[in-house]
Amino acid sequence: MSNVKFVGISGSLRKDSYNTKLLNNVAALLPEEVTMEIVEIRNLPLYDGDYEEEKRPLVVTEFRKKIAEADALVFVSPEYNYSIPGGLKNAIDWASRGKDAPIIGKPVSVMSATIGLWGGARLQLAFLPVFKFLNMFPVSKHEVMVAQANQKFDDKGNLLDETTKEIIKQNLLALKSLTLQLKK
Ligand SMILES: Cc1cc2nc3c(=O)[nH]c(=O)nc-3n(C[C@H](O)[C@H](O)[C@H](O)COP(=O)(O)O)c2cc1C
Repeated sequence: MSNVKFVGISGSLRKDSYNTKLLNNVAALLPEEVTMEIVEIRNLPLYDGDYEEEKRPLVVTEFRKKIAEADALVFVSPEYNYSIPGGLKNAIDWASRGKDAPIIGKPVSVMSATIGLWGGARLQLAFLPVFKFLNMFPVSKHEVMVAQANQKFDDKGNLLDETTKEIIKQNLLALKSLTLQLKK
């Protein structure tokens, strides 16, 4: 089976974000027959239950369509205060509402980069209750957590560490395999 489609989202809006750099590297390490579209979340308004369904802002409708079209999601995100950055959580909230909530049941991979020594380990855990409620399927092996991210990229944003690249490839293969299993 071919043409598995991932949607990749960075949890950081910062121009020089290590996580956005990591996401761009992920795009170059995809398994065969997998494509990935990078989707922006910066223009989404704050979630407001008064603007669901017919009053939904166009930018939200477009975002939900992108999520619906994805076979699996790849979140590449910093850890903020041991948890999910507000912008990314907001995007997930918009995609989680209504009878046609597009995010429910999707396979997902979380990768994280931080400048500290933990690489976003607590972010990975913070996602678990969210995935449980949304009946999502997170890939657990092999976990991608890039610690000391300020030392891991060259001037052009290329990931320098070969071991990390290998772990990313393994993670993406696992996500592809899980996606195909769930599609059967
Ligand atoms: C609001 C905020 C909260 C943060 N909380 C954490 C944290 O809980 N754990 C951690 O390791 N780093 C934390 N950091 C540091 C981030 O790891 C660091 O700023 C990282 O570079 C952000 O990712 P980015 O480069 O993709 O923007 C925090 C940064 C911000 C701005």
